Amino acid sequence: MTRHDQPPAHEPDRPRDLDLTRVICPLAELDDPGARGFTLGEGEWPLKGFVVRRGAVIRAYVNHCPHAGFPLNWQPHVFLAPGGQLIRCIMHGALFEIDSGECVSGPCAGHGLQPLPIEVRDGCVVLDDGVPLRDPD
Ligand code: FES
Repeated sequence: MTRHDQPPAHEPDRPRDLDLTRVICPLAELDDPGARGFTLGEGEWPLKGFVVRRGAVIRAYVNHCPHAGFPLNWQPHVFLAPGGQLIRCIMHGALFEIDSGECVSGPCAGHGLQPLPIEVRDGCVVLDDGVPLRDPD
C-alpha cells in the first residue's frame, strides 16, 4: 500500500444539521448589547430562558430569579438594566453580571442565574443538544 492509498487520518469536519427545535434566534436579531427571551420544548414545563449579548460575550440563562423564583422580566425581551451592562430582575431590582450570571446587587447577592450551554452555529444561537427539552416520563 502506498502512501496515497491510506485513508485520511480523520474525516473532515462535516456540518451538522441544524436542529430547528433548538434554535433560540438568528445571531443577527440579537442587539449588542441586547437580550431575547425564548421558550423551547414541549409539555407542561417547556424551557423558559433568555439569551444576552454584549460584544463577543453571548450567554443564556434560565429565566428564573434566584431571589424569589419569578421570571426576571415583565416585558418581552427586556432583561438588561439601562445602559446594557448588567442583567436586571424587574421584580426587586437584583443585578447580575452578563458574563457569569452572578448577582452583584440586590436581595440575592452572591447567588447566580442558572446558565444554559449554547453555541453559535450557521448564524444562529442554538441550545446545546445535552439540555433536555421534554418533560421527564
Ligand atoms: S424575584 Fe428577582 S429580585 Fe426578587
